[in-house]
Amino acid sequence: MRLLAQSDLHLNRRENRQWLESLSRHDYQRDVLIVAGDVSHRLDQMRWAFEELLARFKEVAFVPGNHDLWVHRENFPDSTAKLAAVEALCLELGIHVSPVRPGGGAGPWLVPLFSWYRRPPHPDSLFLPKPGEDPNFRGWSDDRFVRWAGETTEPPDSLTRRAPFTPDDGAPVISFSHFLPRAELIFSAGPYRGTDPRPGFNFSRYAGSLEIERAVRRLGSAVHVYGHQHRNRRRRIDGVLYLSHCLGYGPERDAGRVGNGAAEPLALWEDGPVTLEGVEEGTPERVSRFIESLNRAED
Ligand SMILES: [Fe+2]
Ligand SMILES: [Fe+2]
Repeated sequence: MRLLAQSDLHLNRRENRQWLESLSRHDYQRDVLIVAGDVSHRLDQMRWAFEELLARFKEVAFVPGNHDLWVHRENFPDSTAKLAAVEALCLELGIHVSPVRPGGGAGPWLVPLFSWYRRPPHPDSLFLPKPGEDPNFRGWSDDRFVRWAGETTEPPDSLTRRAPFTPDDGAPVISFSHFLPRAELIFSAGPYRGTDPRPGFNFSRYAGSLEIERAVRRLGSAVHVYGHQHRNRRRRIDGVLYLSHCLGYGPERDAGRVGNGAAEPLALWEDGPVTLEGVEEGTPERVSRFIESLNRAED
């Protein structure tokens, strides 16, 4: 049994539906797939996706992303109700949304960490100042399509602080979230190519939450899989291997911006951690220096 990961399927895009249809029906029959969110904002499409994946993989584990909880031309009063419907669908189809040891208890723990991003000034926000950003930026679609019951922008704590899970049998833990656990993961170690397509947009406002990082450390995860940014990284920090393996959008893939073989599920565990190519050991010096310069620029 192998564990593989693929997130950000975004099946509202035709090229990504074609990708799913063309995924091998033979190669993964004994494998488990971790899907770290952003399957589709349409529940009917999510059902189709899970049925297609279950025809290919032995088991599938999932945590919802922001697009999955959009309330957009569907009959849900809010994203809180949509989350309940998404989880009901997963239960109906046998998609894992709670901690599980797949393969009949032979594999490591798979622990989904449902979370949301925290915006500044929330203390768990991954926010970093960006010179020249537009403080009135209006282009973030969640602001139109995500609303929580009784709240506006911040998810209620009851959603993000679900009953903590504690593995008690010594088996290794692989956790996964849609959003980023640490701000360093936002930035590539390589030189930035091209011009910034959205100079007013500051992704770190919507990137993730330190709540995820705390949960990863509490669990003692060997590997943490995340999605959301569509910039695939493999970075080991303080003993945890952080992996993102997003499919992303066709034009992003074609332009080489997603990276690391985005269009093929990433095998990360086979009786133990798979030795992956291109793992960065520690936060790259260039990233630490860049973050320092952003923080200095704000002072
Ligand atoms: Fe995404
Ligand atoms: Fe996302």
